[in-house]
Amino acid sequence: MSTKTAIRGAMLTFKKDPFFHDMSECMVYESDAIVVMEDGKIVQAGAASQILPTLGDVPVKAYTDSIIVPGFIDSHVHYPQTEMIAAYGEQLIDWLNNYTFIAEQGFASKDHAAEVAEVFIKEQFRNGVTSSTVYCTIFPQSVDALFEEAAKHNMRVMAGKVCMDRNAPPELLDTAQRAYDESKALIQKWHKNGRAEYVITPRFIPTSTPEQMEAVGALAMEFPDTLIQSHVSENVNEVAWVKELCPEAQDYTDAYAKYGLLRDRAIYGHGIHLTERELNVFSETGAAIAHCPTSNFFLGSGCLNVKKLKNADRPVRIGLATDLGAGTSFSILQTMNEAYKAAQMNNAPYSSLHAFYLASRGTAEALRLSDKIGSIEPGMEADLAVINLKSTPIIDYRMRYAKSLEEVLFIQMTLADDRAIAATYVAGKEVYAAQ
Ligand code: GUN
Ligand code: ZN
Repeated sequence: MSTKTAIRGAMLTFKKDPFFHDMSECMVYESDAIVVMEDGKIVQAGAASQILPTLGDVPVKAYTDSIIVPGFIDSHVHYPQTEMIAAYGEQLIDWLNNYTFIAEQGFASKDHAAEVAEVFIKEQFRNGVTSSTVYCTIFPQSVDALFEEAAKHNMRVMAGKVCMDRNAPPELLDTAQRAYDESKALIQKWHKNGRAEYVITPRFIPTSTPEQMEAVGALAMEFPDTLIQSHVSENVNEVAWVKELCPEAQDYTDAYAKYGLLRDRAIYGHGIHLTERELNVFSETGAAIAHCPTSNFFLGSGCLNVKKLKNADRPVRIGLATDLGAGTSFSILQTMNEAYKAAQMNNAPYSSLHAFYLASRGTAEALRLSDKIGSIEPGMEADLAVINLKSTPIIDYRMRYAKSLEEVLFIQMTLADDRAIAATYVAGKEVYAAQ
């Protein structure tokens, strides 16, 4: 027998992209809303005055001084790097060699992988993150560990085995054939298994031979509805290295495109230094960029210009992402904070409403999941985060001077973090509640 439950508070969600449409057509805000959930889905959402009379004895949990938003989606994150977040020193390539490729070797052990997966998902729930697109390691058991942990919570998770067969320690290398065989077996095991989806995951051009890229491209063709993820144009030295490794490719994007790896449901981390030609290819193919601002600052990679990508003549889809462990926070609020600063460095800021759009429906659209997650309306999966608007003394004080919704949201995205998450709901179940 199904049972309805409901929560009450202010509510914010989006119907369209405000980078391309008038904000009034895009946002839906209710100062006193009720969201009713049943069988993992949202069945009603709207003004409390309208929904209350229809509820009968459905229990309603009320959150005061809070706003209900779609659960945050992290569109690019490395769960094996949980243990090495905040590793000091240097830019991308040294950081990979000195820390990342050491930490990832531990994931040959399924027990270790399971332990980290549990810590990782718990921390996501503490931060209101209800869905994510995850890099595992080359070890298939590290992929099983993450999907198994997510399945315990009925969490919508997208993940894949990292493929790499060069320029990393021998313990972390597979081959073209193994990358193909192991990824295919994992697709057959996990893709569309419950709320899981598989992501074909060549790490990046420097760690995959042309033979491996061929194999991964063939796999992507065989399974056209899987996601694809990789890294592109993160760091200027990396871009120069790719040019050396692939002299025949027009540029970094072309090095992927020629294997058929740019398409709908392909999402590439960073993309900071992409040229106009490359942005055109992203736009035409439907591939998306995962914007990872805390990571981009931490590794000194640069500042993505969101507004440049959001050009109506050649729009590129953008998801927000932590890119942990180069990213320095699990918090999407803190990610929005750093994204704003990156936009400022480009002289191209956007409003807090735009930022909340990016963190919810925008990211779902980048992943082609906006029919399931990323907004609050009947039929959507009941993944929600409740933000306490007065989570610290200084936020409480600052809020007294807030004059508009835009200002309230800007205060939250600038000052708030995990402490602001009052509750997290996954498929209609409370998976985290602040003490
Ligand atoms: N490029 C290739 N691998 C990685 C990684 O693990 N983190 C980041 N930030 N960039 C990468
Ligand atoms: Zn990454």
